[in-house]
Amino acid sequence: MFIDMSTLRPIVALGFIVTGSSLIYASDLPREKLLLDQDWKFSNGEPADAGKLFDYPESDLQKQGLESEKKEADLAAKRSDEVKTNLGGGVTWVKPDFDDSKWRTLNLPHDWAIEMPFNRAANNGKGSKQLGDKDGTGIGWYRRSFEIPPGDKGRTTWIEFGGSYRNTLVWLNGHCLGRVESGYTPFYFDVSESLNYGGKNCLVARVEAHKNEGWFYEGAGIYRHVWLIKTNPVHVAHWGTYVTSTVSEPSATVAIETTVENSATAPARATVISEIQDASGAVIAKTESPLQIPSCGQFALKQSAPVPNPKLWSPETPNLYSLVTRIKSAGGESDRYETTFGIRTVEFSAQKGFLLNGKQRFIKGMCNHQDFAGVGVAIPDRLQEYRVAMMRDMGCDGWRTSHNPVNEELLNECDRQGMMVMDETRRFGKYSQPLADLKAMMLRDRNHPSIVIWSIGNEEMGLQKTSYGAEACKVMQELAHRLDPSRLCTLAINHQFDNEGFTTVLDVTGMNYKNLWGGMNRLHDSHPDRRFITSEEASTLTTRGLYFEDKAKGYLTAYDTYVPGWGSTAEGWWNYYQSRPWVAGAFVWTGFDYRGEPTPYNWPCISSHFGVLDTCGFPKDNYFYYKAWWTSEPVLHLYPHWNWNQVSHRLIHVKATKPLAAGIQFSVVDAVKQGKGGQDWKMYDNGEVHAVTVIVIKSVKEKDPQNSGKMKETWTELVKQEIPIKDGSSTSLLPLKPEQADAVKGLAVAVSREEAPIDVWVQTNYEEAELFVNDVSQGRKKVEPLHHLEWAVPYMPGNISVTGYKGGQAVKTEKIETTGPAAVLRVTANRTGLNGDGEDVVLVKAEALDEKGRFVPTAGNLLHFDVTGSGRLIGVGNGDPSCHESDLGSDRSLFNGLALGIVQASRQAGNVTVKVTAPGVKEAVLTLPVKEAPIRPCVP
Ligand code: GAL
Repeated sequence: MFIDMSTLRPIVALGFIVTGSSLIYASDLPREKLLLDQDWKFSNGEPADAGKLFDYPESDLQKQGLESEKKEADLAAKRSDEVKTNLGGGVTWVKPDFDDSKWRTLNLPHDWAIEMPFNRAANNGKGSKQLGDKDGTGIGWYRRSFEIPPGDKGRTTWIEFGGSYRNTLVWLNGHCLGRVESGYTPFYFDVSESLNYGGKNCLVARVEAHKNEGWFYEGAGIYRHVWLIKTNPVHVAHWGTYVTSTVSEPSATVAIETTVENSATAPARATVISEIQDASGAVIAKTESPLQIPSCGQFALKQSAPVPNPKLWSPETPNLYSLVTRIKSAGGESDRYETTFGIRTVEFSAQKGFLLNGKQRFIKGMCNHQDFAGVGVAIPDRLQEYRVAMMRDMGCDGWRTSHNPVNEELLNECDRQGMMVMDETRRFGKYSQPLADLKAMMLRDRNHPSIVIWSIGNEEMGLQKTSYGAEACKVMQELAHRLDPSRLCTLAINHQFDNEGFTTVLDVTGMNYKNLWGGMNRLHDSHPDRRFITSEEASTLTTRGLYFEDKAKGYLTAYDTYVPGWGSTAEGWWNYYQSRPWVAGAFVWTGFDYRGEPTPYNWPCISSHFGVLDTCGFPKDNYFYYKAWWTSEPVLHLYPHWNWNQVSHRLIHVKATKPLAAGIQFSVVDAVKQGKGGQDWKMYDNGEVHAVTVIVIKSVKEKDPQNSGKMKETWTELVKQEIPIKDGSSTSLLPLKPEQADAVKGLAVAVSREEAPIDVWVQTNYEEAELFVNDVSQGRKKVEPLHHLEWAVPYMPGNISVTGYKGGQAVKTEKIETTGPAAVLRVTANRTGLNGDGEDVVLVKAEALDEKGRFVPTAGNLLHFDVTGSGRLIGVGNGDPSCHESDLGSDRSLFNGLALGIVQASRQAGNVTVKVTAPGVKEAVLTLPVKEAPIRPCVP
């Protein structure tokens, strides 16, 4: 929401008090930024007296075509002004005196979509969550009361929303402040005139989540922070600084643009002091400008300052500087505003692709949506740190905010950790809404050094090749150039329209998928002066920890083999771009799995499989491909697991119903029952069980002298036979040789998978690697750079190991053993402690181990998380794309051995204890210190 300066309210200088001969401001702090996240009241549904008042016709928001553009323009013209008409001002739930005590109390950020059950009838592409308009599940109301001190009268106060999904109407004390359609755009209101000073204030928001802006999971509710910002009448305008730099070694010049506002009735004289501080807080440059600002007016100030020997920002050296703007006016320091920035140069080139600080480099990017396990889109700030760190760890240095503006905290992390960002807006078009969204995103984001390019859209199928589309593209791009002349724009196009539509206008052509563009050489050859970036690539489909496809469950395997028609394997696309240095970089679809867009299967699958990591951030095997070739760290990663025996040779104790000498009879139904639902059978046969191998084994338990006389069980195979199974009820007779008959008494039958060699893969950047099965070499192979190694070996329980060689010397060995069943749990955390600020989070990984303490990669035990002390469990997950267990609550199954709990610190210092239990296995307990920490200034 932008403030039209003509509507700036006149302010009489009531915020000043007089001491002695000078005026000073009522507050000690020239500017306060208070978090308004705590203790909101919330209800789904609609009040009875709302009627059709809030109906809001919109065009198809997902992908604009000519039709919807026209419709949107017509609708925009017809819509009434909700502020002028005070829309909803009389509705019960809007009224300040409405009794909301029975509503739920919650803290922001909040995503109510994760609270909804999975529903087969709901939109599978968006994660199968019920968010209806008629039943009220898609509408949410938030209310928050707060006091404002009388001394704040005369100050300038804004309420800022980081983002809310979507079509958010906001009222303060019964007055409508405005509507923001976008579910992603940050917005703010100047509430100085609507506040009740010295009394109670009531902020109300109505949020609608039943319409779609995207085709993926988008969440529901106020899912980012809300802030109350107070400053004085002479102040830096909201998002009012713009810092750029030019570098000519060995020094840089920083250009500073500051919009100074005066909301008082009298003109003001002020001095703007701009100080540049380095990372240690030392002031390294300073400039001062006196100015005069008209009443209710603005002044656009330009300053510049030299920075000798600047420490440039790059992924490897994420050096940051800080601009501190202080405004001195008659009453003293009337504002103090801090802007973090970096000094670096960015260039896109038709021949050299991309250059950062003058050096050519290919952006190794990942696209990401916003959601995460356990919390949906309501991501605690600390989780953003983790998400960026996991990407950086595999060598990724680019993040595309597909397909929408993200929250500020993510961009702060990208600045801090050295992640180059393609910052993308959601809605494309040349009418007011998309332009306002783009403007808000850019004004908020343009000082982040991490952002290297703007993206003004994605796959606008209906417009991308049209002249209307080209025109809209031009309008958006020109706006972007005006707001930020220092960066270029791209737009992700998914068809080879080289000579029409968007491509004719764009600064940098954004290509989604080389395969959709019919290859790339042709492009460069026919347009040698055009700049290209691959905005989307790969779309490789993998399921963590699985090595056999299961169609019924919607699982793929973790091998780098499955791709949709438009996609490529990790290895495939990365090799392809090696010889195309004129491309600026590429962004993999996607870094993390996300809710919605299950591909290629649908229900019961409810999440995507595109991620290099799953929804919990647990790496899949491709993570190690990228890490091997995107970092200089030695990588030696071996897969799959070696537990085929464990899973498939499930013991079935049978009752002999025939004379033993004639054979042993067993029923497959029994087997399935005892095998817990039969899911393990399906794993081996693409979901369709045709046959099983039945093995009659003799099990002998005896003391093991090598293991302190502990009991050891040895299995000997007596008979092994493949038995066809038509359905789950067939009964078979397994004949035995007479000499085996005696041994049969008390024996068990085990069901095993069909015999087939197992593909063993190694991702490594060593020079050679040698695979061993039970210490027997399967051959040593040379590593072809940028490729994996592969062997096919028959399964034998025991172990597989790989040794990596460098210069002919064995350097490192990785081993995977066949484990026993889950016997004990283990919990570990990604940090050693938490800050007791009520916001900090830690990610707790739960794993199943066997009796010998070895990770059981096939375990699926149902866990219970019990969190006590100075913290609470805010969400759980396991990365299973077909799991319908709740993200909330305390129970979650392991998926291929792993589950996640997200624990948030309270505001009390102490300890937080996480106990994880599961029937039949030994529990695990983890205690972490929660240290006393400053609580962010917040609205009481
Ligand atoms: C692209 C699209 C993404 C996602 C992806 C799946 O076409 O931009 O949002 O749908 O395909 O491969």
